[in-house]
Amino acid sequence: MAFDVQKIRTDFPILHRTVNGYPLVYLDNAATSQKPQVVIDSIVDYYSKHNANIHRGVHSLSQEATDAYEAARKKIQEHFNIKHSHEVIFTSGATHSINLVANGFSSILKQGDEVIVSALEHHSNIVPWQMLCERTGAILKVIPMSEEGVLLLSEYESLLSKKTKLVFVNHISNALGTINPIETIIKKAHTVGAAVLIDGAQSCSHIKPDLQQLDADFYVTSAHKMCGPTGVGILYGKEQWLNKLPPYQGGGEMIKEVTFEKTTYAALPHKFEAGTPNIAGGIAFGAAIDYLNSIGFEAIGVYEKELLDYATQELLKIEGLKIYGTGVEKTSVISFNIEGIHPYDIGTIVDKLGIAVRTGHHCAQPIMDFYEIPGTVRASFAFYNTKEEVDSLVAAVKKARLMLT
Ligand code: ALA
Repeated sequence: MAFDVQKIRTDFPILHRTVNGYPLVYLDNAATSQKPQVVIDSIVDYYSKHNANIHRGVHSLSQEATDAYEAARKKIQEHFNIKHSHEVIFTSGATHSINLVANGFSSILKQGDEVIVSALEHHSNIVPWQMLCERTGAILKVIPMSEEGVLLLSEYESLLSKKTKLVFVNHISNALGTINPIETIIKKAHTVGAAVLIDGAQSCSHIKPDLQQLDADFYVTSAHKMCGPTGVGILYGKEQWLNKLPPYQGGGEMIKEVTFEKTTYAALPHKFEAGTPNIAGGIAFGAAIDYLNSIGFEAIGVYEKELLDYATQELLKIEGLKIYGTGVEKTSVISFNIEGIHPYDIGTIVDKLGIAVRTGHHCAQPIMDFYEIPGTVRASFAFYNTKEEVDSLVAAVKKARLMLT
């Protein structure tokens, strides 16, 4: 069946509004995705009919809420092909998940140990590890990238040694759209006994990963990147790693027994889930996963590639426009600048025409430093965008160029 983008667009109420008098053209999907009605309904349904705290009450409402929350955990487990549901830890998002792991490694790493990051990371996959290195005396090494925005794997190999304890890379760069060869990265790290954390925040809406096949030790992502709500995400960790890491936060739910002399901790996943979680968010995350799977990741991938190719071709016709991130393996993200124009000015003018793009360093300052630029304009496409929207973007950027040169 052909990919019916117009039908899909009817699932998203926000896509029918106007901004500054123009139809909204939402091209900031790498920052956050829009939400289909089924996800919005799931939140309304929870608060209208089932709201109660989970894992705590014997009363029926609490049981209903617990069942719905745990069913969402199961859905997430199946979606990512995770072996055990207790290896899925609910967090507030990818950043929280990375901080949880980085905190846990404080008691594992020793002075002189090495950890490896890539040049393509978001600040959330750099700063927590720098903080870890400060605490432990471990050394942070960086996999460099090429002018095309592709990681240099031979350099990566030369960084690996018996001293390497951890490697953390994203699956897809938020700033450039490069898809990293995570299978190879994981395999090579394992040859020296290092654990690998994959940041899936940018890939989860484009690619359905098989975490058992990938053999990642940790994987993190946020629901809001995949049509779910903000404020909820997951940490996947292999059982043996999660058992090894100490709890991140103390509080209710994460304990087995508490006395003033000593506290013992609950089993997985509760050991890492202190406090009342984002219950509605977790349930709606499950609804978002169902929604995306009803469209199908293969169909999403093919359609988004068409959009990427078309937008690349049309934007490159604009005089003075340069695209950053030109690797072959790339998702539907286009970061660009026009010679002599500040990205912020382009973003402001296209917004006046109803078009939402992100401008700036995209929380990836080392990438901007590499290219010696203050930032870029970033258009990031989702499966509900259209070629007509690409045309609107191109026309608006042309207009901005004329106004600003
Ligand atoms: N990480 C998000 C982005 O790339 C916020 O825009």
